[in-house]
Amino acid sequence: MSNVNSPIPLVKVAMPRREILMPALESVLYSGMISEGEYVYRFEDVFAETFKLKNVLATSSGTAALHLAMILSGVKAGDEVITTSMTAEPTNTTILQMGATPVFADVERDTGNLCPDAVEAAVTSKTKAICVVHYAGYPARLKELREIADRHNLSLIEDCAHALGAEYNGLPIGTVGDYAIFSFQAIKHMTTIDGGMLMMKDPSQMGDARKLRWFGLAKGVPRTEVDITTVGYKYNMHNVAAVIGLKQIETISPLLKRHQDNGRFFDEALKEIPGLCPAPVQSAVNPAYWLYTLLSDDSSEVEKLLAASGVMASKLHRPNHFHSVFKPFAGAMPGLDDFYKRLIHIPCGWWVSVEDRERIVDVLKRG
Ligand SMILES: Cc1ncc(COP(=O)(O)O)c(C=O)c1O
Repeated sequence: MSNVNSPIPLVKVAMPRREILMPALESVLYSGMISEGEYVYRFEDVFAETFKLKNVLATSSGTAALHLAMILSGVKAGDEVITTSMTAEPTNTTILQMGATPVFADVERDTGNLCPDAVEAAVTSKTKAICVVHYAGYPARLKELREIADRHNLSLIEDCAHALGAEYNGLPIGTVGDYAIFSFQAIKHMTTIDGGMLMMKDPSQMGDARKLRWFGLAKGVPRTEVDITTVGYKYNMHNVAAVIGLKQIETISPLLKRHQDNGRFFDEALKEIPGLCPAPVQSAVNPAYWLYTLLSDDSSEVEKLLAASGVMASKLHRPNHFHSVFKPFAGAMPGLDDFYKRLIHIPCGWWVSVEDRERIVDVLKRG
């Protein structure tokens, strides 16, 4: 618990207590089996059970999982992938990595999530997939996006890097898309230092996906007998990351609940403050509130005001089309322009105590 003067960070690494983590970590480190093995497969099973997912494969990063999702979707050089610019860069660097074209559809001005009408308007004969990000942990309009994907025979890839534990119309996040990915990078809800998870709807792709994760080689077949028919990657998770993941999952529920409790608290407490507008939450949706999304006509003033009270708040991300590599693919995005101008993320995670969140509201009320 922090006192009145201690800074409140916007993001923070969640690590299990030393006495819980270290014995397990040490036993793996000195087991002689540190690469992909039993811990990875157990982590996959426990993750799938905890987050009610099927057909999951652990990877070295969320980016690796995204790349595999693109390959398994059949995206080829020259194809188009409809995506969002309001995200972390790996969502879109993977599209370029495929030799495909990112087609940036506009986002909703109040959530930063893909706008289904803009996605529909962006479909062409070259479109192969839609990549949707549940930005900051607020689920996007999956029903509408699923319908668009089905109508045009496109793959729907859910980038759930911010949305661990979120729910959409009673469904666990990551179960509406044909593929979903999660990230366990340092500052996500849970971390394996670096790591990711790939979910695929079609279980018959698991064999191919496993090979793609490991150079194109089948695991468990003697190296002298195995044949690579399709080139794969070094995208496997190792036992050391997996044991950290297993220990994280043991305490993930209360931690996710803290994000959600704080988010719901801010939803109520901030809506009455003139000049501030919390991102709306669709009915029957449970955001993961990785970050809390607040909108203000004076977002830089709000940032300064909070900073003066030791509360770290910021926009955190940069719309991807601001980068030179993505500029050629940028069209008009009035929704994004408005959202980004007004955006300010405030701390909302497990480290924000009841006193902290009241202090944040107090500063905003007084400001
Ligand atoms: C929206 C989004 N997608 C993908 C990724 C990639 O995940 P990773 O850092 O685990 O490769 C991240 C993480 O930075 C992210 O925030």
